Amino acid sequence: MCGIVGYIGKRNISKVLLESLQRLEYRGYDSSGIATLDNNDLYLCRETGCLENLAATLAEYPVKGNVGIGHTRWATHGEPSKVNAHPHTDCENNLVLVHNGIIENYAELRNKLKKNNHKFRSNTDSEIIVHIIEDYLKKGAKNLEEAVICTLMDLKGAYAIAALNKNEPEKMVAAKNGSSLILGIGKNEIFVASDASAVIPYTRQIVFLEDYQIAIIEQGKFNVINLNGNNVAYNVSLVDWDIDSAQKDGYAHFMLKEIHAQPKMLKKILSEKFNSDNFSLKLSEFSKIKKYSADINQIVIQACGTSFHAGMVGKFIFEYFVNLHTDIEISSEIKYKHFIYSKKSLIISITQSGETADTLIALRQLRRKGLRTISLCNVVGSTIARESDAVFYIHAGPEIGVASTKAYTAQLFALYSIGIFLGTLKRIIKKSLKSSLIKELTFIPSLMHKVLASEQQIAACAKKYAKYNDFFYLARGINYANALEGALKLKEVAYVHASAYPAGEIKHGPITLVCKELICVCIVTESSTYEKMLFNLEEIKARHGRVIAIATEGNQEIKNYADDVIYIPYVQEIFSPLLVALPLQIFAYYVALARGCNVDKPRNLAKSVTVE
Ligand code: AGP
Repeated sequence: MCGIVGYIGKRNISKVLLESLQRLEYRGYDSSGIATLDNNDLYLCRETGCLENLAATLAEYPVKGNVGIGHTRWATHGEPSKVNAHPHTDCENNLVLVHNGIIENYAELRNKLKKNNHKFRSNTDSEIIVHIIEDYLKKGAKNLEEAVICTLMDLKGAYAIAALNKNEPEKMVAAKNGSSLILGIGKNEIFVASDASAVIPYTRQIVFLEDYQIAIIEQGKFNVINLNGNNVAYNVSLVDWDIDSAQKDGYAHFMLKEIHAQPKMLKKILSEKFNSDNFSLKLSEFSKIKKYSADINQIVIQACGTSFHAGMVGKFIFEYFVNLHTDIEISSEIKYKHFIYSKKSLIISITQSGETADTLIALRQLRRKGLRTISLCNVVGSTIARESDAVFYIHAGPEIGVASTKAYTAQLFALYSIGIFLGTLKRIIKKSLKSSLIKELTFIPSLMHKVLASEQQIAACAKKYAKYNDFFYLARGINYANALEGALKLKEVAYVHASAYPAGEIKHGPITLVCKELICVCIVTESSTYEKMLFNLEEIKARHGRVIAIATEGNQEIKNYADDVIYIPYVQEIFSPLLVALPLQIFAYYVALARGCNVDKPRNLAKSVTVE
């Protein structure tokens, strides 16, 4: 899972490649590298770690040329090191290539190439691609594109590649299958990238390449061909994202900025989905959902990570508002399951990036079974958005922090909107109830502001507990998903062990771990399970565990059960996940800060997980 870029044009080549890679660094930052061609001279520069390291080396050893490719890596095959950094070259250093994806039959191909005396410098699966291209050119392929087409026929797995040939110095060839790849079309210049965010400061004219399409790019022109070498038609889409939101706006980290962005973001989403004058739904927004859900008898949500947690809340929403049995599946498990869903099931894929390999593969599998699919995506034009029967964009705006925050609440918001829509369609929700539910949603942004106003108190609490190494996150009912999400945030950004449980479960085993070194973050907001939660808090206190309670404003009783209390405003239980999420995000952020972690780029992680 990596980011790739390419450029042909008259700009400063290393600057444009570095800037584009910077915007793809969320895909991985184990190593990076660029290669450029200046007539028949090939320049190659690679470094381990973040792009700053590459930029420093480039300042010392500048590269030249009008054609170049670049890569930022998240290691899959081969440790993060300079030899495993892309771009990779062939035996003779004539060809150079960057790759995102995984070549499944690489071991077999590598052995074959070794027998033909190819010398490998890295342990990556990617390097074999450039050696196969070399072989085909030696065997008589008339140019780079022909050799690339032959090579693609040999590969099994997912890839997006960009390749250069020293002997065809004015050309770049790019191709994809499974992994995303776009072309950015500028005036007398062409960009290649894993996604559009890399190129929007230069151009908003984007071609989203399809699987098995090959782009042949030369100075100021390009064409797209298929595996038979025939030209194929393509669309140029106009991408209208707001680039300003990709800056930190004075916040120390993107994560903090994105946490604070939530009230404004939800206000904007509200105005897009609902009519504020009479608290009704803007039906045009939901027409695609209607088309695919008229006769459904079941909903199946599939997602990973934070999106999965949003899906868990979605299960409560759909069962409560729509009275429809709802299953929630982890995407990476779907492939290995015996599926018993009927044709009347509606599959909802939830994904911020729209590129998560596990979610995409499950989606494809479910579509092959003839099931109808809707996706909840953030990234416009992403692969999952394009491959689903219908897409419902969550409109969180670009999320840069690797740990998802605002996309989570935007996903929840989308699920509430769809739940209210389907509940009304199926006549489970009466008109008056519908208006009062929408009205309650309209209060959420201002209630979120109130939670954010407690930031410093939450920060102090985080600082107090930052030295502890074991956390439980406990809740019941709809907020168990938030317990999982809070624990995930702490693990991701602060590298602290945290386990989440439905609070009733701890007496069945995990209670053995309760002691004064264990910190229990307990969600004890006003709800149908409040009394039961208090019993659990008693059990923890009796065993000297420490409790941080997230409770409803005005609750004094909770102070008898907790070491520290973080208050949030009252909201009815079904909507409470929208508010509870915020203190959990802030807490994890400040623990991470106190422990000196790289909040926006946690170790070993990538924003978009494009490998299985
Ligand atoms: C969230 O903080 C994580 N970085 C991760 O769990 C993420 O939610 C997961 O990889 C799914 O990503 P997606 O929403 O882009 O599909």
